[in-house]
Amino acid sequence: MVYLTRVEHFNAAHKLYNSNWSEEKNKEIFGKCANPHFHGHNFEIFVTVKGEPNPDTGFVMNAHELSAIIKKEIIDKFDHKNLNLDLIEFKDVLPSSENFIILIWKILEKHIHGCTLHSIKLMETPRIYVEYYGE
Ligand code: NI
Repeated sequence: MVYLTRVEHFNAAHKLYNSNWSEEKNKEIFGKCANPHFHGHNFEIFVTVKGEPNPDTGFVMNAHELSAIIKKEIIDKFDHKNLNLDLIEFKDVLPSSENFIILIWKILEKHIHGCTLHSIKLMETPRIYVEYYGE
């Protein structure tokens, strides 16, 4: 089994704010992430697929094809967007990186054929990232 990873980049804004809580509790839990006027992140996304190399190509999956899928299904949808305001998926769900990566998985897994989506890593800062394996 061989694992192939493609890395892509996009920017998006969000804020973390639970409207069922007081202003004070939001500040206590989310800190600056609850700032009313949103903030941006330079997201790095790592998408890993797994499989056996195809005998004709030597590839688990064509990395350019994987890049094209990520660009079409993820970057085009989320780049330079406000996750809270622009995405119906986050109307009633907090756009944390944890919830975001689950949404990205659900979108991408439908488009990976001939091998298996293994994991996604989403870096929201150089020091904070989430990983998801579909479970
Ligand atoms: Ni944030």
